[in-house]
Amino acid sequence: MERRDSHVLEEELERQKEFIQLVADRNDGKIPKYYLNTFGCQMNEHDSEKLAGMLSNMGYVETDDVDESDLIIYNTCCVREHAEQKVYGHLGSLKRLKEEKPELKIAICGCMMQQKEVVSHIEKTYRHVDLIFGTHNLHKFPELLYKSFDRDKMIIDVLYADGQIVENIPVKRKDNIKAWITVMYGCNNFCSYCIVPYVRGRERSREVKDIKEEVMMLGRQGFKEITLLGQNVNSYGKDLSVKVTFAELLYQLNEVPGIERIRFLTSHPKDLSDELIFAMRDLDKVCEHLHLPFQAGSTKVLKEMNRGYTKEEYLELVMKVKENIPGISLTTDIIVGFPGETDEDFEDTLDIIRKVRFDSAYTFLYSKRTGTPAAKSKNQVPDEVKKERFERLLTLQNSISREINETFLGKKVEILVEGISKTNDNIYTGRTRGNKIVNYKGSEDDIGKLKNVLIEEVKTWSLEGRLIKEC
Ligand code: SAH
Ligand code: SF4
Ligand code: F3S
Repeated sequence: MERRDSHVLEEELERQKEFIQLVADRNDGKIPKYYLNTFGCQMNEHDSEKLAGMLSNMGYVETDDVDESDLIIYNTCCVREHAEQKVYGHLGSLKRLKEEKPELKIAICGCMMQQKEVVSHIEKTYRHVDLIFGTHNLHKFPELLYKSFDRDKMIIDVLYADGQIVENIPVKRKDNIKAWITVMYGCNNFCSYCIVPYVRGRERSREVKDIKEEVMMLGRQGFKEITLLGQNVNSYGKDLSVKVTFAELLYQLNEVPGIERIRFLTSHPKDLSDELIFAMRDLDKVCEHLHLPFQAGSTKVLKEMNRGYTKEEYLELVMKVKENIPGISLTTDIIVGFPGETDEDFEDTLDIIRKVRFDSAYTFLYSKRTGTPAAKSKNQVPDEVKKERFERLLTLQNSISREINETFLGKKVEILVEGISKTNDNIYTGRTRGNKIVNYKGSEDDIGKLKNVLIEEVKTWSLEGRLIKEC
């Protein structure tokens, strides 16, 4: 069954190659421009790299100027309401442009499109949109784009059943030192606030051999760092016919020549195994950084969130991680103002922050997502209360982030140099294994290399230093 599936998918990809050629031929030597705006997480960013790969093969080049583009694509996110509102705002403002330039194509894809009510809203309200497709049929983009050329009517093609994994979609990566690799799609956890399982479907893992081939290729191309992506990488491999764990995958990837650093996101606390902690400890390329969202401190709230662990279990887990991997950098995600969260519950969130001392935290105001169980709760927290808690949380976390950074003063760190800093010509920027940004005076030659830097100044979000000459 599996072999037949992969055969069918290969044929489908071949078919898409024909459409890529058809679009390229249609351009007839002209170089059309695309404007691609991506919302949401790294997984969406990586999907956009696939769109860019297909577009590049069709002869398109990227522009950051909407007005001069021939094709506009929004790759959308629906994890919070704010992300959706931004997309609607942009779509509204494109109406005039489309009127002035009827040959302009406007496409929308991504997680928002996996919700039927969103698609019908766009269909009714934003009639200047040409093309809508979803996350499960991203590979079909060349065919859909081609078909949209000689059509005035909106094309809508969204697959609501879980898509199969399509390997070998062309990719045009944004960076040439660091690369994202999606190792699994979907999520089975159904945290009660979260829309992701509804729009990304159930967990589907890629085969180890496909992932390894991709990483080997990246190593040959000169990439130095990979970040493995999944909504919950800790449950990687459980759905494969030959079971394999995420730690086993890391062992395989640690062998790949050329790759110097391996990172991954996201780990769910309920599934973080001892095996993975030991793999992080023992594998030289796996960086000492763990992103371990706790979402809320109160055990009562965690239960209502359907997270599958208590406050105490989370703290014990962090202790185990710190004992086994000294100096590990920890980051997290936190939601403020989940329905029914009291002041006392929120104190538990602050308590976890004080006890764990995260290097940094992504903090979010709870956002009601239609279709999720938490959205139905009558106990929504008023906006002013949410905001006040949010501010307290930020102040506390910022001071901890800064204090942790201060411990680096006078210390030597190894960084992977990523490029020139945005603000100053001679200043180059890289990251430590713990994912801290380090700026220093360097040269173009350093890019893509590991360098030792002595930290001389500390900021809340970055470290400043000077290069230590190798002897
Ligand atoms: N799979 C990852 C991240 C998924 S989305 C994980 O489980 O950690 C990224 C973050 O968005 C979540 O960790 C959560 O903190 C936040 N988030 C998800 N749904 C949200 C909502 N309805 N309101 C506010 N924040 C939300
Ligand atoms: Fe959403 Fe929870 Fe899945 Fe993360 S683990 S994507 S928060 S349902
Ligand atoms: Fe958003 Fe989809 Fe990622 S909803 S957070 S872009 S998986």
